[in-house]
Amino acid sequence: MLGPGGREHAIVRALLADPFVGEVHAAPGNAGIAADVPTHDIDANDPAVVTDLARRLGSDLVVIGPEAPLAAGVADALLDAGIPVFGPTKAAAQLEASKAFAKQVMASAGVPTAMARVAATDEEANEALCTFGAPYVVKDDGLAAGKGVVVTDDLDEARAHASACFRAGGTVVVEEYLDGPEVSLFVLSDGRTVVPLAPAQDFKRIADGDRGPNTGGMGAYSPLEWVPAGLVDEVVSRVAQPVIDEMAHRGTPFAGVLYVGLALTSRGMRVIEFNARFGDPETQAVLARLSTPLGGVLLAAAKGTLDQVDQLKWSPRTAVAVVLASENYPDAPATGRRVRGLRKAAKVDGAHVLHAGTALRDGKVVSAGGRVLAVVGLGDSLADARTTAYDSLSLIELEGGQFRTDIALRASRSEVTVTGPAAAPA
Ligand code: AMP
Ligand code: GLY
Repeated sequence: MLGPGGREHAIVRALLADPFVGEVHAAPGNAGIAADVPTHDIDANDPAVVTDLARRLGSDLVVIGPEAPLAAGVADALLDAGIPVFGPTKAAAQLEASKAFAKQVMASAGVPTAMARVAATDEEANEALCTFGAPYVVKDDGLAAGKGVVVTDDLDEARAHASACFRAGGTVVVEEYLDGPEVSLFVLSDGRTVVPLAPAQDFKRIADGDRGPNTGGMGAYSPLEWVPAGLVDEVVSRVAQPVIDEMAHRGTPFAGVLYVGLALTSRGMRVIEFNARFGDPETQAVLARLSTPLGGVLLAAAKGTLDQVDQLKWSPRTAVAVVLASENYPDAPATGRRVRGLRKAAKVDGAHVLHAGTALRDGKVVSAGGRVLAVVGLGDSLADARTTAYDSLSLIELEGGQFRTDIALRASRSEVTVTGPAAAPA
């Protein structure tokens, strides 16, 4: 398992629960992952180093968590070495690494998405902003860990973000604004066949009520009771399968997980973005409910045999994941602070703790990143799952720690609704 975060800890946990998985190793991991499996302190973005480690361990499968190793060509190197890998090649990972590329693929595949223009100068950006009008959406056309997007009613702020991206040597994508609730759906693919997981919702802003700057994600829940019946089938038939077919047609088949970020707008479903990896923290909520052993499914995606996998089985329970972040996240997070109460928190019935930015110092767990951990609560209803997650989180102490108190709150009160064509049952 490659990667350092909460998503990786969730995947490690699921692999350890798979009776067919013999041994799990992680690189580099974090304090929580290291408590569960052997870890290796290597540069997970270096294709040669990763290939060397996988050879030494005799790995049957390498699972790539984050986008950086994908963009660096780690999957390509493993494939060249004949080692099965879950995660797309560098060329296929362009679906995430370049928003402009993703837009081209969507246009070729007839996938519904926001109208967009690529801009390389202040004049082009200004013209696009005026064409689409407020609210303005400006995206850095490169990997920015979910933080390169500015959505604002303030034209000057939109222009300033575009200018900053140009000064950094990049281009931007300017888009029409999409209204309506967002959905994250992970779709596994072996390059041909697609297998969807359960939909989740992510909370991107730092503060309650969706206020403050965008983050990597402050919480998530799954499944979504409010989505129209047939949404998953619709995403598979109108988005995932056409994109997977288009990538194969271009000679750059996509094997791994296609993360489809959607808005259910008043005019129907629209793709906001693709990622070439599992989402964080949605994975923490989604995998908590997956009853089918994960290892076999990921191996089938790597080996081109997803068509032989039985339908996935899910727990009927609901999962809520709440992230605990460091003081000053997402700007300059304060790190190196003791995290206390982890053992007590994990003892809460129905809860488990997944580490993200943590490290061990003198045998004690300290914060080592922006997002420190996520507490996952399972329950028979969203309200129950929320109570479990927040009860557990209340036992954890981190000086200056920030978390949202409203993860899945509106959905638990049935306040999330879809209007327009997407609302019609399929
Ligand atoms: P992205 O990096 O493309 O996922 O964008 C990050 C977040 O910005 C998304 O999850 C949305 O909340 C918001 N966003 C992106 N594009 C749009 C859009 N066209 N309209 C409204 N919100 C958007
Ligand atoms: N939770 C958003 C992401 O993983 O990009």
